[in-house]
Amino acid sequence: MEKKHPILALWLLIPAGLAIAAGLHASDHESREERSRPPVAPVANPLYTAECGACHFPYPSGFLPARSWEKLLTDLGEHFGENAELNAETQNTLREYLLSQAADRVKSGRSTKITASIRDGETPVRITETRYFQHKHREIPRQTWEQNAKVGSLSRCDACHVRAVQGSFDEHEVQIPGAGRREH
Ligand code: HEC
Ligand code: HEC
Repeated sequence: MEKKHPILALWLLIPAGLAIAAGLHASDHESREERSRPPVAPVANPLYTAECGACHFPYPSGFLPARSWEKLLTDLGEHFGENAELNAETQNTLREYLLSQAADRVKSGRSTKITASIRDGETPVRITETRYFQHKHREIPRQTWEQNAKVGSLSRCDACHVRAVQGSFDEHEVQIPGAGRREH
């Protein structure tokens, strides 16, 4: 009978070794792990997309805490200079959705960081006003979006984050219109 070749046995061990190494590596690098999955849950609510995505990109609920969504929904009659009022039933359904998925109610690295960047007494009604957002966007020269007809405002997430609808805000997927791909 033929004896099992030691080299063959070694080959069998390599995949197991690699899997262990990959596991160790991943736990060492939170940012890598963060990047491999959507940073915030993508919007998966057709009613929300229809009602709150009519004038702008439907902002994922994981970008603001529950108290912020509550405040936004209470003031829809005067929503950033627009009337975005909804009937009571629609508003209640959206409230339920937004509050259950709010930044301080979900377990996501990104949402937790956003919540942590907001002081207890504050209730921001803009994602763009949170310290987390401002920190992440501080290096973008103002003129690349302000004087850009295709952007105009940092509130237009999907103008630069080409996979925003899928919930991905990975900095490597950013494409500022007219500015070309970002070099790294
Ligand atoms: C009639 C149009 C309209 C509708 C409908 C609408 N919005 Fe807005 N929303 C606006 C405008 C205008 C702004 C300000 C955008 C800007 O400053 O560039 C805004 C801004 C926002 C912002 C702040 C974005 C930021 O971080 O700067 C949030 C959050 C928001 N809307 C949530 C909602 C939600 C939730 C709904 C649905 C209940 C909704 N909007 C429906 C017009 C609308
Ligand atoms: C003018 C283009 C532009 C707009 C508009 C914009 N972003 Fe960004 N965003 C960027 C760039 C560029 C970066 C990477 C910044 C860096 O690496 O210095 C970034 C980074 C981020 C990050 C961190 C990504 C990471 O991998 O760490 C998040 C989260 C994010 N943006 C969310 C948003 C949201 C939410 C909105 C809308 C409310 C928005 N952005 C609007 C250009 C934009």
